[in-house]
Amino acid sequence: MENTYFNKDLHARDYISILLRRKWIIVSFFVITVTLITWMTFKQTPIYRASSTVIVDAASPDILAVQDVVKLGETNYFAYKAYIETQQEIIKSRRIVRQVMKNLELSNREEYRKAKDPIETLLKKLKVGLVKDTRIIKINVEDENPEEASRIANEFSKVYVNSNIALKIQASTDAEGWLEKEAEQQKAKVRETEMSFQDYKEKNDIVSVVDKENIINDALTKLNANYLDAQKNRMQAETAYKSLAETEDGLRLENLPNPLADNQIFTQLKKEYLGQQALLVEYQKVYKNKHPKMIKLLENISYIESRIKSEIGSIKNNVKSEYDQAKEDEAKLKGILEDKKKESLELERKIIGYNALKRELETNERILDIVLNRLKETSISNQMQTNNVRIQDMAEIPMKPIKPKKQLNIILSIILGMVGGIGLAFFREYMDTTIKDLSDIATLLQLPVLGSVPRIKPDGKNIRNKIDVDRIVEKDSLCMASEAYRSIRTNLLFSLKDSGYSRSIAITSSVPKEGKTISAVNLAIMMAYSGESVLLVDSDMRRPRAHTVFNIDNASGFSNYLAGQVDFDKIIKYTGINNLSVVPAGSISHKPAELISSKNTKLFLEKAGARFSKIIFDTPPVVLVTDAAALSGLCDGVILIAEANRTTKGLLNNSKELLYKAGANIIGVILNNVSLTRNSYYYPQYYYGKYYKPLNAK
Ligand SMILES: Nc1ncnc2c1ncn2[C@@H]1O[C@H](COP(=O)(O)OP(=O)(O)OP(=O)(O)O)[C@@H](O)[C@H]1O
Ligand SMILES: [Mg+2]
Repeated sequence: MENTYFNKDLHARDYISILLRRKWIIVSFFVITVTLITWMTFKQTPIYRASSTVIVDAASPDILAVQDVVKLGETNYFAYKAYIETQQEIIKSRRIVRQVMKNLELSNREEYRKAKDPIETLLKKLKVGLVKDTRIIKINVEDENPEEASRIANEFSKVYVNSNIALKIQASTDAEGWLEKEAEQQKAKVRETEMSFQDYKEKNDIVSVVDKENIINDALTKLNANYLDAQKNRMQAETAYKSLAETEDGLRLENLPNPLADNQIFTQLKKEYLGQQALLVEYQKVYKNKHPKMIKLLENISYIESRIKSEIGSIKNNVKSEYDQAKEDEAKLKGILEDKKKESLELERKIIGYNALKRELETNERILDIVLNRLKETSISNQMQTNNVRIQDMAEIPMKPIKPKKQLNIILSIILGMVGGIGLAFFREYMDTTIKDLSDIATLLQLPVLGSVPRIKPDGKNIRNKIDVDRIVEKDSLCMASEAYRSIRTNLLFSLKDSGYSRSIAITSSVPKEGKTISAVNLAIMMAYSGESVLLVDSDMRRPRAHTVFNIDNASGFSNYLAGQVDFDKIIKYTGINNLSVVPAGSISHKPAELISSKNTKLFLEKAGARFSKIIFDTPPVVLVTDAAALSGLCDGVILIAEANRTTKGLLNNSKELLYKAGANIIGVILNNVSLTRNSYYYPQYYYGKYYKPLNAK
């Protein structure tokens, strides 16, 4: 058989074929879905939606150029975004919901009374959203009652707007209270610091610290200068005194200390003395010591010397007393200076304390000032509170329900029904491993295909009952099934030609009721029609049927012959159809496997082969019992029957394996019971077959 015949090159047709084959799944899924959804839609209680809107300004109008204590709005974009989102959450907050419930006395309603959490029940009806690119918040309320929906929506907007301003007032009243308290405390603090400052000043006798500080500083500077002078004087006196003390003995007139050099009397005396001395030198050159002039001069000199000595003594005394005085002065000034320094240090300490207290007082006064100012501003802004949230639109009573959306639901159900149905059909197709057409056999099993037989339906004329169906080629030789068997016969003979015209052919299938008997009967009749002498043997001893189909006696048949109970001739029955004889299954139904494996089977084949040109065996299912495989092994060939849409690929493959194992020669496969309406595309010969009926055919 050329497989090309089955090549499906048009995939769209495959899909259409699947859809046609599974049309009932699609239709039922579609009908169920659409009906169910439509029914649910109409059963649903209509829900109405009422919407009110509120505008949320960025910030309240700035009437006073005064900053609010609590800022309700925001001007910055991101801050505003966060702000308005917060507002939406506030509308949905349990506090607001509770207030709405209270205002509308909703908790008395049955719906809320029954609810576990009435607030949650109301919340479920509420949907809050921002109208895109605006500052408008939409408050949607969904309810079965349209009036109730609008009432609740309106109450929500009212409660929210009021709560917004109430919050603002509350916040700034709180702030005012706090500021008042703070101002009182601050005042007391200022008073307290003033007192302690005053106390300090009094205690420390500070009138004007800065003046006193200046006076002391001046005095100190002066004292310091005086002290330095005194010190200098003392040092001078000291030097003079010391130099005199050193020169007391061995006084040399050439080298006199300052105090002496400055003294006029002494200088005069010194001059005189030096003159006398010079004279003495002159005299000594002229006079002797005893000379009166000499004596006088010497006396004079000694007198001047004594005077000098006494002068030195008096100068010394002066210098000494000067020195003592200078020392005394210095010591006195030092004492005064020390005292002043101490006084200055004391004053500095007082100034530090004074300054600290002064600073504290100033700070407290400044704080008090700020607090008082803020308090004044707050109390003014409190009296002029403005709300940045206001109602834009009140909700109206909705006329039409928003749910259920009947049209949409029905359209969706139609789409869902169609898509789901088609999906389900493809899923079933995917899950379905049964053989559907000849190409499945050719590609999967790599077995030749002899042909397919359509489903035969009684037509009330030629085919009236089951027996008519089973003998279709005899009853209606022109119908599609007969045409199919004719074609199978041709194919069979054609393939037998290659294998040297097999005589014995077993007909088997995987499981019961796939059409072994009907195929065997009709093929046998068809072959008889073509002039072959045919023997049909019913080897299915478990469920024999050939005798019923041909209405013959089954008392002795194939089983009896195999058991050696009867002769070959006795079991051959005539059917009324030319060239066709039948061997019924016979009366022994137990141990059929043993009977078939006996040597009598071979004997039977020899005998039958001698008398008939074709021996056709109707067998039991090959997967379930061993007889079929055993018999097939003995026959020249075996035909495997598969039932369309019932025999699975796995099962058919199993049968193939079993038959090969038994050494059978599989001639080919017949696909039985093909539904024309389902697979008509692939069987054009049947589809168009009716046009080839002779016009006079009945
Ligand atoms: N193509 C067909 N159209 C209509 N009916 C059919 C077709 N093939 C088989 N049948 C019916 O199906 C039933 C089973 O068929 P049949 O007895 O041929 O199967 P079987 O494989 O021999 O079964 P068993 O395993 O019991 O021997 C019969 O009633 C037969 O008439
Ligand atoms: Mg049968």
